[in-house]
Amino acid sequence: MRRLAQYGFGAPDSRRQKRLEQMRRPAWLGTVRRTSPLSDHWGRERGTPVDRYYIERFLDENRGLIRGRVLEVMDARYTRRFGTNVTRSDVLDIDAANADATVVADLAAADAIESATFDCFILTQTLHYVFDVEAALEHVHRVLRPGGTVLCTVPVTSRIGRAQLDREYWRFTPHACRRLFARKFDEGAVDVRGLGNVLACVAFLVGMAAEELSARELEAHDPFFPLLVTVRATKVATERAMAAAGHPS
Ligand SMILES: C[S@@+](CC[C@H](N)C(=O)[O-])C[C@H]1O[C@@H](n2cnc3c(N)ncnc32)[C@H](O)[C@@H]1O
Repeated sequence: MRRLAQYGFGAPDSRRQKRLEQMRRPAWLGTVRRTSPLSDHWGRERGTPVDRYYIERFLDENRGLIRGRVLEVMDARYTRRFGTNVTRSDVLDIDAANADATVVADLAAADAIESATFDCFILTQTLHYVFDVEAALEHVHRVLRPGGTVLCTVPVTSRIGRAQLDREYWRFTPHACRRLFARKFDEGAVDVRGLGNVLACVAFLVGMAAEELSARELEAHDPFFPLLVTVRATKVATERAMAAAGHPS
């Protein structure tokens, strides 16, 4: 549980507790004029962190791709929640102390993982912890089966986690993601989106929850103020590659 808390996944509070927290520390205009956040946990004690609103909607929209052999980082929560027809679920972590990990490896040096293994790789909120992003993306592409897809999210605007000061390296722009993924994947098979707006970013930074914003406020996407980038990239399936990976033609 301590590991999960480090990444903002504490024990879920009840809806009533979250409502009480919103009333105890209101987030009206003026109350956000402060130099410390309302929440030290991305707003989780008040409701759904704003980045998770976008991440979970992205995975929901792509749930049809979460099937077959699925790899996820840290735990399998999104595989379980959004997957259909999952034949095998694996969890990757660099941290050997993670009891959920079925694959312990540094994504930037993951030669031990066999090539062309996974139909889907759920790579949420991880690349900013990997210094050598290019090497990581080489392995992401390599471990996917032909026709397999990586569903990736990365932060653009985010605080640094309390326990992550010397672990987080990067923030990304949509433009950088397009270039990084197009180096490994066919450009036409990469879909990159920047989500959020200035209000969503401010709310997230101060630690308000998604429930404290309206759907209209969350769904206004301003290219100049993205909070999060989503990337859906599919490995091209040539007939030869499909045969080599053991797919029937
Ligand atoms: C914030 S969690 C992200 C995954 C989680 N599913 C999510 O959506 O938030 C970060 C995870 O990435 C792992 N990690 C950090 N650097 C890594 C690396 N180079 N290779 C593999 N895993 C890494 C951490 O140990 C941690 O479990």
